[in-house]
This record gives sequence, C-alpha cells and structure tokens, in this order.
Amino acid sequence: MYQLLKPYNSNWVLLGAICLLMVAFLFGCDQEMGSQKTVTKDPGQDAKRPSGIATEDTHPKTSPESKSDSRETASSEKKVELDSCDGENKVTVSKDLTGQPLAHALLDQWKRDHPDRDWVAEEKRAHAFKPPADNSDLLKGDQGKGHAYGNYTQRDILTWTREAEKFVAEGSRIFHSAGELGSTVGVSCDMCHPHAANTHPETYPKFQTQLGRVVLLRDMIDWCVENPVRGKHLDPDGPKMRALEAYIMAQRKGVKMNYGKH
Ligand code: HEC
Repeated sequence: MYQLLKPYNSNWVLLGAICLLMVAFLFGCDQEMGSQKTVTKDPGQDAKRPSGIATEDTHPKTSPESKSDSRETASSEKKVELDSCDGENKVTVSKDLTGQPLAHALLDQWKRDHPDRDWVAEEKRAHAFKPPADNSDLLKGDQGKGHAYGNYTQRDILTWTREAEKFVAEGSRIFHSAGELGSTVGVSCDMCHPHAANTHPETYPKFQTQLGRVVLLRDMIDWCVENPVRGKHLDPDGPKMRALEAYIMAQRKGVKMNYGKH
C-alpha cells in the first residue's frame, strides 16, 4: 500500500509547492515563516488526502488568519520550502491576478517597498534598453557665454540623460506589461517584438495597408494595442502612448531614418 502510493508523492510535492506560492502571495512571507514547524508528515498520509483538505494537527496555532483559511493553506504547510520566498516583504495582491498583471502588481508593491531604489536602473537591467546619447563633449573645448551650450554644466548633462532614460524606462515597463496595456488576453508587445524588434519606427510616416492611409508610428502602435494585444485604443497624446513611442524610438538608436520604407 505504502509502495503503491509512492508515485503520487511527487505530484503532491508539486501541488504543495504551487499552493505554497499562492499562500506566500496571499499572506506575506513573514507570517508563513513563523508557521512552519509542523512539517514532517507521514508521506503515506499525504497521499491519501486531497491536498485541499486541512487537518487540525498540521495547522499552526499561532495565527488566527491562517486558521480561518485552513482549507486553502493546509497542504502547503506540509512543505518547508519557504526559502523560495525571500522573506523580505509582505506582498498582498488580489488572488485573481495571474501572469503579467500579477507581475505588475508585484513590481508596484516592490516600488512602494523600496522608494529609495532606482527602478529605472532595475528596468534597464531587466530589459536592457539602449542608453541615450552621451553629451559630455559639449562641455569640452572653448564654450564661452556666447556659445549655444555655454551656460550648461555637468549637472545639466546628467539631468538630461537621467530624465531621458526615465522616460524610456517607463515606455519599456508598459511595453512589457499586458496589464498596463490593458490587454484582455494577457499579451504584451515584447511577446512579438522582443526588444522592440520589427517595429521600424524609422520608416514612418508610411502607407500602411491595414489602415489604408499614411500613418505615424503611434498609429501602428495603436493598431497593435487594439488587434493582437486586444486592448483599448490609446489616447495618441496620453502618457502611455508617449512612453511607448519613446521606448521604441530609443531601441532603434543608430538606425538611419528612412520614411516610407516597406
Ligand atoms: C501577437 C503579436 C503582436 C503583438 C503582441 C504586438 N504586435 Fe506589433 N506587429 C505585429 C505584426 C504581425 C505586425 C506587422 C503588421 C503589418 O505590417 O502587417 C506588427 C507591426 C507593428 C509595428 C509596425 C512595424 C513596421 O514594420 O512598420 C509597430 C510599431 C508595432 N507592431 C508595435 C507594437 C506594440 C507597441 C505592441 C504592444 C502594444 C505590439 N506591436 C504588439 C504583431 C504583434
């Protein structure tokens, strides 16, 4: 009997791990960290019991919340692999969220938890967008007051770079987020255009057959938002469209402008 049930154990381990993740999201890691004493269980017992059913003896007495929700949490408490949760933060998100919206909610939470951290740098690391032009040579040479850039300092140059990067980082964030794009099918731009590949901003304005007229880059962005992404039309002057356009342009840095090219 014991032997027979053995093959199922690995399934339960998997199921447990999945539930564990859900529990970590719903209740925050700290709470779970405190409630992991009751772990070693007879594996045979596990196999006999559907994972969703709770048992009083495996449940920690410490937390009233987790007790009230014992049906959901019991199976995960049998596992200790709470290391997967880094134990740093409580993350509370709606349990209806999955995929990109969930990732986005977690990022938002992370930003709130780390107001001091440089999210632009994080975005750059995650999606490797291209840096803006280096303007440092503007300060070299003999720029007197009469020169166009004569009054600017190193600090100005740094501000231009930082602000331009922030704008593009925001575009990168939206480009990679089905939630931000309002996708009803969980699709973001990068799934078809990794690193903005094949977006060809340098070819606009051009005649687009699916729109039957000459269009700008933003019109094609909107076409993709409404069609493959299945989101709602974006305001052409709204912050999301402006950020997306900025990111796409930035990614094609160095490519020759060539409007009308197919
Ligand atoms: C499911 C795949 C898919 C997704 C997701 C997608 N696109 Fe596209 N995109 C396409 C296809 C296919 C074309 C080519 C359409 C054509 O030219 O006939 C295209 C074309 C474009 C173009 C014009 C390219 C050119 O050569 O002129 C831009 C710009 C663009 N997409 C931006 C975006 C943006 C921004 C998003 C996210 C909001 C996005 N796309 C999401 C498939 C996708």
